[in-house]
Amino acid sequence: MKEVIVIENLSFTYEGAEQPALQDISLSVTEGEWIAITGHNGSGKSTLAKLLNGLYIPSSGKVIVDGFSTNEVDNVWEVRQRVGVVFQNPENQFVATTVRDDIAFGLENLGFAPSEMEALIVESAKRVKVEQLLLKEPHHLSGGQKQRVAIAGIIAVKPKVMVFDEATSMLDPIGRREIISSIQQLHQQEKLTIISITHDLSEAILADRMIVLEEGNIVVQGKPKDIFKQHDIVRNVGLELPFLIELQEELIQRGLPLSGQSMTEEELVSELWTFVQKK
Ligand SMILES: Nc1ncnc2c1ncn2[C@@H]1O[C@H](COP(=O)(O)OP(=O)(O)OP(=O)(O)O)[C@@H](O)[C@H]1O
Ligand SMILES: [Mg+2]
Repeated sequence: MKEVIVIENLSFTYEGAEQPALQDISLSVTEGEWIAITGHNGSGKSTLAKLLNGLYIPSSGKVIVDGFSTNEVDNVWEVRQRVGVVFQNPENQFVATTVRDDIAFGLENLGFAPSEMEALIVESAKRVKVEQLLLKEPHHLSGGQKQRVAIAGIIAVKPKVMVFDEATSMLDPIGRREIISSIQQLHQQEKLTIISITHDLSEAILADRMIVLEEGNIVVQGKPKDIFKQHDIVRNVGLELPFLIELQEELIQRGLPLSGQSMTEEELVSELWTFVQKK
C-alpha cells in the first residue's frame, strides 16, 4: 500500500516557547486509511494538523505529502492541493458571501479555469448534500451545514487527505451526525484518507488506527479496539472511554459473559441477544 504522508522525526516549537509542542514524531499514513488522533488539551493535535498541510513548517524533521516535503517553499501548492483541513469553528471557515462563491474560492486559489469550476462546485456540493444551498449566505446556515460547505470547498480540489480538527465539537448532535456520516461516505466511496482529530473517543472508534498524543509525543497507537482494552492508558492521558466501552465493562463486571470488543451498538445488541437466547 502506498504511503500518502510520511512524517520523519518531526519536532515543532512555537516562537518564544520553552517546550516543543511536538517532539520527534515519526508516522506514516497509508492511502485510504482512517486515522484518529486524540489526546488531552495542549497535547499537540492542532499543531500537527497545521504541519500536515504546510501551514507550519517543521522546526526539525520532515513532513512529506505524496512525495512533496513541506520544507520546500515551492511545494506549498502541491501540498495544499493534497491535504485539506476542516477546523473546529464553523464560523471561521467562510470567505465569501454565498455558499457557491465560498466553494469556488479554493478552486480559484489553485488556478482552476472558470469553465471547469461550475461542474466541480456542483459535484462537490452534491457529495456532502449542500447543492440546495449554493445561493444561500453562509451565515444563515446551521453549524452542521456550515461544516459541510467547508468540506465541499475542500473536496472540490480533489485532495487525497482530509484532516478534521475537532470539526464536530461545536455542533449539536444532529450536526455532528451529519458530519460524521459525510466523513464515512468520503472514506468509503471516494477512498479519501481521513485524519480525524478528536477528544471524543466515540468518534475515534470509527478509525482503522488511533494515535494518542501526550505533551507532543505519541504515547500509544493501534486499533481502537486494542487501545480501549488498556483502560488505564486512556484514562491516564485524561480521555474518557466511549460510552459503549464503559457500558460493556460495567456489564462484564456484573457477570455478563461479553467479549468487551463490540465497537458498534449493533454488535453489542447482537452479543446481548445471543446471550438472552441461550438463557
Ligand atoms: N500559536 C501558539 N503560540 C504558542 N504556543 C502555542 C500556540 N498554539 C498552541 N501552542 C501551544 O502548543 C501546545 C500544543 O497545542 P495544540 O493547540 O497543538 O494542542 P491541542 O492538542 O490541539 O489542544 P486542544 O485539545 O486544546 O485543541 C500547547 O502547549 C499550546 O499551549
Ligand atoms: Mg486543538
